[in-house]
This record gives sequence, structure tokens and C-alpha cells, in this order.
Amino acid sequence: MKVEVFETPQDAAKSLAQEVAALIRSRAAEGKNVVLGLATGATPLPFYAELVRMHKEEGLSFANVISFNLDEYSGLDRAHPESYWYFMHQNLFNHIDMKPENINLPSGMVAQEEIPAHCAAYEQKIKDCGGIDLQILGIGRTGHIGFNEPGSDDTTITRQVHLDDLTRSDAAPAFNGIENVPTTAITMGVATIMGAREVALMAWGEKKAAIVKEAIEGPVCIEVAASYLQNHNNAKFLLDKAAAADL
Ligand code: GLP
Repeated sequence: MKVEVFETPQDAAKSLAQEVAALIRSRAAEGKNVVLGLATGATPLPFYAELVRMHKEEGLSFANVISFNLDEYSGLDRAHPESYWYFMHQNLFNHIDMKPENINLPSGMVAQEEIPAHCAAYEQKIKDCGGIDLQILGIGRTGHIGFNEPGSDDTTITRQVHLDDLTRSDAAPAFNGIENVPTTAITMGVATIMGAREVALMAWGEKKAAIVKEAIEGPVCIEVAASYLQNHNNAKFLLDKAAAADL
């Protein structure tokens, strides 16, 4: 696994955005689509800001991009400001030229009995689009990627999961209290993520240093979903100095 350490999150985000732009442009030149796996959270914000800047100032087109987001909270509709649908539109999709029909997120509003079929259809659609070329990731303090909490092994695919207490308490300020944070979510599985041809995980700040060390230097184990990336043949971690401090 490659580890790249940058002075600032902005430097890391810029480097990744340049790589993504090169991929989009080379596929466009061949008349082909590119399939991106996208993540939410504070971490990818400078990366999305840089993509928006490249679209506005450098004419980078996203017309050939198909996206699949990692996850969505159960029970939140698209208009909820904490839904990942809303987040992605606010921070990326509303500012670029992606075709709305190429945007895919799991739905948090599917009736309980229809969730397995919804998850299976999501997996199938990823396959039908040719699989994910590049999966963007953040990391939660439980070591989760997407919402693959401790106990998620590398055979897991898209499904409904229970959120860990630490994950819910980290999300509590945004929801004005832990009692408002959903208890379940739909997430791609570890196997879904491992199926991407390339994976790029970003992490910033001292709060992530301990879990970053576990993911990179610890054993590959079911307690830390991100540790499975050690087994991926084209995965890299992009870190700022603070997140890399314990390595
Ligand atoms: C949430 C998301 C993850 C994200 C994590 C870390 O749980 N489902 O995809 O990586 O939070 O969030 P942040 O980037 O805000 O630290």
C-alpha cells in the first residue's frame, strides 16, 4: 500500500484531484466513461472544492463520469441537510456538469422489507457500469470505510448496518444531539470497495493519527475495516502531517 504525506490537506486534495482529472480526460479522449466511487464527511471537502474549481476555471467536464456513493443514513430523505444526497449536491454535483442520471447513492428511504433488493440492485448497477475505476474514501475513528463498522469482513457487500456508538457521537454535533443521529445506514461492503480498480483514502488531523496507524501498520483484521486495504493491489493513503504523526 502506498502512503503519501502532504504538508496540508489542500496539497493532498489537489494532488488527488489532478489524478482524477487526468483519468476523466483520458477516458473522454477515448469516448469512454469513468466510474468514480465517492465519499462524504469533512475529509473530502477540499478535494471536491478543487474539482469544482477545475470545472469552473479549467473547463474540466464531468459529462463522462458515473458516480456511486459509498453510503446513506437510513431514514433521511434527500432534502434532509445531513443526508448524503444533500451533502453531495451541495458540495459537488450542483456545481459541475454531471448528468443527473449518472449519479447514484443508496436510498435512506426504502421500506425495511425492500432494503435487501435495493442493496442487491446497487451492487448490480456497479457491475453493469463496468465496476468502479477509482474509489475515494475517508476513514472513521472506528476504522470504518463507508459505514463498515468493526465486525465487517472482506466478504461484505452493500447492506444495511448498525452504526457504532463512536460513529454516532462523532456525528452528533451536526445533528444537534446524538438522539437525532440515525442508528442504521446502507453502505457498500468491504468487498464492494476492494473490487474497485484503484482506492484512494484521505485522512487529516491528529484525531485520525491512531486509527491511520492501525489501518496501515496493524494486522489486517475484522475490527478495522480499512486494514483490508493492505490486501488491495492499488490502494493509497493520502495524509497530512498530523494524520501521519504516529506512523
Ligand atoms: C462518516 C462517513 C465516512 C467518513 C467518516 C469520517 O462516517 N460515512 O465515509 O469517512 O464519516 O468523516 P470525516 O471525514 O468527517 O472525519
